[in-house]
Amino acid sequence: MKYQIRVNRTAHSNLPQIDFDNLSFGRYFSDHMFVAEYREGKWQDLRIEPLSEFATHPATMALHYGQAVFEGMKASKSHDGRPMLFRPQMHAKRLNFSARRLAMPAFPEDLFVEAIHLLVGIDAGWIPPKKGSALYIRPFMYATDPFVGVRPSQTYRFVIFTCPVGPYYPKPVSLLAETHYIRAARGGTGEAKAAGNYAAAMLPAQLANEKGYDQVLWLDAQEFKYIQEVGTMNIFFVIDGKVITPNPEEEGTILRGITRDSILHILRDEGYTVEERRISIDEVVAAHEQGKLEEVFGTGTAAVVAQVYKIAYEDKEMVLPPISECRVGPFAKSYIDDLRAGLRADKFGWVEPVQLPQSVDA
Ligand code: COI
Repeated sequence: MKYQIRVNRTAHSNLPQIDFDNLSFGRYFSDHMFVAEYREGKWQDLRIEPLSEFATHPATMALHYGQAVFEGMKASKSHDGRPMLFRPQMHAKRLNFSARRLAMPAFPEDLFVEAIHLLVGIDAGWIPPKKGSALYIRPFMYATDPFVGVRPSQTYRFVIFTCPVGPYYPKPVSLLAETHYIRAARGGTGEAKAAGNYAAAMLPAQLANEKGYDQVLWLDAQEFKYIQEVGTMNIFFVIDGKVITPNPEEEGTILRGITRDSILHILRDEGYTVEERRISIDEVVAAHEQGKLEEVFGTGTAAVVAQVYKIAYEDKEMVLPPISECRVGPFAKSYIDDLRAGLRADKFGWVEPVQLPQSVDA
């Protein structure tokens, strides 16, 4: 361990109250959190302490100007009970990619990983034992200056808390392709995991829900033609045996999903034909009309892989084959679940055993 992280353990664990067989997503919180403060140009006051509220000045800049970025990652238990992390370094890098876009300071990547090992090690009992469930890890950073003018904050707080979770989407989902609102335009913040991106998507998502759809399928901001992503996931189409997904690096408007990246590696390695390229909603409609749209699925840390059963676009509604007839999405999901459970050889080197703390000071 390179960093000095103070540890203050709770005297009253809430673990006995948790029912691991009835976990909904994001409602239950583990005992501890990691906190660091950015002051005078450096990260300091590194600590793990009992999860608690923060006092908030009414002028806290994040609340007014939205300098807030976050990550979502997962810890799981292997079949023989060992706590495991999935690609933590990738999440550290992506947090800093997001922070840079919002003129926030970088958080040291090795400290990010070390803090997660220590926190998850301390709260390892909170990792649900069931395959498919996980300990969701939420690192985030926000501006803390009490200041009313518009400029980057000079102080920030970085926090990691964790939640035992079941599946984000327990059932296949329906999508409404959005033709009025946009999520992201080139040059904007769409490829950052910025809190404000989610705020801007709330109203369209609410309107889609009122029309009976689970989520919005976002189209590009210029022509409302090219598919970007779903509010909570990246998106994959299987057309005539080929797996097609938009390319975040080319578009500059799409979140660089780590589950997306993992699934691309897995599918290529398994011999699937995979294309990372622009795909228009018209191409999807045409494939559906020709009976070539075999499946659609979303990928994300929270969702892992969520099969799509229906997509609406203008006056058309495309109903997709039932999950029992889908092979790519279910295969990708079970591959990732098996990797996380240590039931499949980790040929990509993505799964990292949690370094359990030797001793902790009170
Ligand atoms: C994740 O998949 O981790 C996300 O951050 C999506 C979130 C909306 C739950």
